[in-house]
Amino acid sequence: MLASYSSSTIWAIGAAVLGAIVLAIVVLAGNFYLKSDNPTVTVGSGVASIGGPFTLIDHTGRTVTEKNYSGRWMLVYFGYTSCPDVCPTSLSVMAGAMDMLDPEQAEKIVPIMISTDPTRDTPELLAEYVTNFHPRLIGLTGSVEQAALAAKTYRVYFAKSGGSEAGDDYLMDHSSIVYLLDPKGRFRLHFSGAQIDAERIVERLRQLL
Ligand code: NI
Repeated sequence: MLASYSSSTIWAIGAAVLGAIVLAIVVLAGNFYLKSDNPTVTVGSGVASIGGPFTLIDHTGRTVTEKNYSGRWMLVYFGYTSCPDVCPTSLSVMAGAMDMLDPEQAEKIVPIMISTDPTRDTPELLAEYVTNFHPRLIGLTGSVEQAALAAKTYRVYFAKSGGSEAGDDYLMDHSSIVYLLDPKGRFRLHFSGAQIDAERIVERLRQLL
């Protein structure tokens, strides 16, 4: 009895000491993390792999790459012209944000919609669509492969939903996210859900530009 009692006491003391050491490490690491945390580090590291090279066709029929827009901030949204609600709402917000900015700030930004439905979204259709939202909004489409590659670099999901696979009557499920890339093409931040709000976007742009 005595032997087993002292053995469990030793275990208890051992566990307590180990617990204290682990707690000390967690607290120290936490302090270090807080001290080393700043917006530049957050923006520049873990999220840097969003966005990247693409080759697409703009709404004037011209082949473009991300280099066509370098030197300016890009506001990028993935969507499609026959989207019933989400895309028109998001694009209206982007257009509204462009109009709320001072003209010299707006000049530094290229708002872009990349089609998630390149089969139906011809450059002609896109031209009509994007100019309805904003004169500066650029529509990009391309082959299915080109659009899929662009979506992949932004980690955007899209897929046909409903309707017949063969017919032209279908919807597209897709991520609804507004991405902001800086003049060097580096991802800075994104807006999703309720964050897709003109005032919020303008506020963040004014801080960054
Ligand atoms: Ni949509």
